Amino acid sequence: MIDVSGTLVLITGANGGLGRHVTNTFLEAGATVAGASRSIRNEDFPHARFRAFPAELSSSSAAQALVAAVTARLGRIDALVHLVGGFAGGSSIAETDDVVLEEMLGVNLRPAFYMAKAVLPGMREAGAGRIVMIGTRAALEPQAGTAAYAASKAALLALVRSIALEYKPYGITANAIVPGTIDTPANRAAMPRADFSTWVDPGRIAEVALWLVSDAAAAVTGAWIPVYGRNA
Ligand SMILES: NC(=O)c1ccc[n+]([C@@H]2O[C@H](COP(=O)([O-])OP(=O)(O)OC[C@H]3O[C@@H](n4cnc5c(N)ncnc54)[C@H](OP(=O)(O)O)[C@@H]3O)[C@@H](O)[C@H]2O)c1
Repeated sequence: MIDVSGTLVLITGANGGLGRHVTNTFLEAGATVAGASRSIRNEDFPHARFRAFPAELSSSSAAQALVAAVTARLGRIDALVHLVGGFAGGSSIAETDDVVLEEMLGVNLRPAFYMAKAVLPGMREAGAGRIVMIGTRAALEPQAGTAAYAASKAALLALVRSIALEYKPYGITANAIVPGTIDTPANRAAMPRADFSTWVDPGRIAEVALWLVSDAAAAVTGAWIPVYGRNA
């Protein structure tokens, strides 16, 4: 396994369906992990190198406060792995309530923008940093009935490319992992008759995130990396 011992990684959405795998993968690889979400607790990951930072990341001030708290407690942030996101779909644009659009932008785009804005000054000062975000296949290949979700995630992909361009002179990389449907308990419950074998193993996505944070990926920035498993 890739070794990232000594790396301080802030993982948002650390206790989600994907986040649990990403958090455990980074802990197994030697990282110190600051895990954030609204409900997260230290007991979620009983490990000496894990610290929980409960945070509601729907405002810029909350993101700034989270980054300040992690930096004060753990010294610095070498990498941000931003997993916060959500899904809504099943309606045409005409039938989609405006509230749903706001919810999708509010969970998929704004926290990503706020978190990047909060961590980048410290990374620039350090002359190094890694940002990994999670898009979705639907952002690159939209399907009918998911306009608000797909558009919010497409905006996130544009954000990642913008960060990469602006910060490439400073040793900071920004990349997006673009998964197909992930094999999470929530998806199995929502789609019990689906063929789970065609879904992406969250452990595989965690390994890509780990690689993007590792030295091996130092020259990779601005990438949107498809992780579609057997559905490629
Ligand atoms: N599942 C899929 O098939 C799939 C496919 C493609 C892409 N993705 C993307 O992959 C990422 C992870 O998906 P998932 O299935 O693991 O989702 P999930 O289980 O719903 O996890 C979402 C995480 O974000 C946290 N969160 C949500 N809103 C937040 C807020 N306002 N402030 C702080 N934390 C918040 C949640 O924790 P709390 O509730 O404790 O806050 C949870 O840890 C998302 O970005 C998703 O869009 C998922």
